[in-house]
Amino acid sequence: MKKWLNKLPKVELHLHLEGSLEPEFMFELAMRNKVMIPFKSVQQIRQAYQFDNLQDFLDIYYQGAEVLIEEQDFYDLTWAYLLKCKEQNVLHVEPFFDAQTHTDRGIKFATVINGISHALQDGETKLGISSVLILCFLRHLSEQQAFITLAQAIPFLDKIKAVGLDSAEKGNPPEKFSRVFAKARELGLLTVAHAGEEGPAPFITTVLDDLLVSRIDHGVNAMQDEALMKRLIKTQMPLTVCPLSNTKLKVFAELSEHTILKMLNRGVCVTVNSDDPAYFGGYITENFVALHEALNLTKKQAKQLVENSINASFIDDQAKQALLAMLKAYQ
Ligand code: HPA
Ligand code: ZN
Repeated sequence: MKKWLNKLPKVELHLHLEGSLEPEFMFELAMRNKVMIPFKSVQQIRQAYQFDNLQDFLDIYYQGAEVLIEEQDFYDLTWAYLLKCKEQNVLHVEPFFDAQTHTDRGIKFATVINGISHALQDGETKLGISSVLILCFLRHLSEQQAFITLAQAIPFLDKIKAVGLDSAEKGNPPEKFSRVFAKARELGLLTVAHAGEEGPAPFITTVLDDLLVSRIDHGVNAMQDEALMKRLIKTQMPLTVCPLSNTKLKVFAELSEHTILKMLNRGVCVTVNSDDPAYFGGYITENFVALHEALNLTKKQAKQLVENSINASFIDDQAKQALLAMLKAYQ
């Protein structure tokens, strides 16, 4: 089954590029760029990856990102992720990047996006992996800072498909970003948002009604609200669920308690994703394998989850049909 899941043609819709920074590469970049990190070895970095909640993780994740300085660093980060995708037969990706994590340290928006986009273009031509890029706003920062970031993105709109919302959910309800999301939509961008990971079900309703999202990132707390569940099923609103992330950050105590297959069986358009694979113990294949081991995920369910991802992706209909045909042919 592991081999079968690895070869299964896949699509990833919830991946933070900064969360794919492997400890080995973090260490190498710290030396390359002469950035101090509070770790003496790769082993020490890995040992620090024990989290009780989202904030615990975010503290270490933002610190880790400080080793990224040059355009080449952003290229290398993205390229390493794409090589992993190639290994795991991921054919299309829609990664997030956190511009503010870098611009707040004096790195130019152009440095970040040029490095990432160049790697994504090479991914398309050299690896055959298609992609669209999503710019995330950090919700612990202000509305005004999000507006500044959106303005910085304007010269690069040909490289960005959508905006998203991430970082600490508790205490940062989505309505703070209604106006900046409206402006993003005016600029022709699609919208997605993290909601219902640690935050309550009403945050999911808000991102649907106020931020007019095309997908919900995580969304597992929708299970708290039956009317919302019915709405998600009826509208086939996609949820980008990240099983290993949810157990690492203690959204669920055990993977065996995860509700993704319950949602799938009820007809919710749930998908499988890795979120921050370098921090949470695995890329997309490892997430599928973990679901098989903890919840007896079947081949049929795995194919349905990928079909949902293809339908939820931001590619045109022709590209969707091509991916769906490849998925259908896979036995
Ligand atoms: N939630 C919120 N913000 C994030 C996450 C997440 O899972 N990963 C990276 N930034
Ligand atoms: Zn995320």
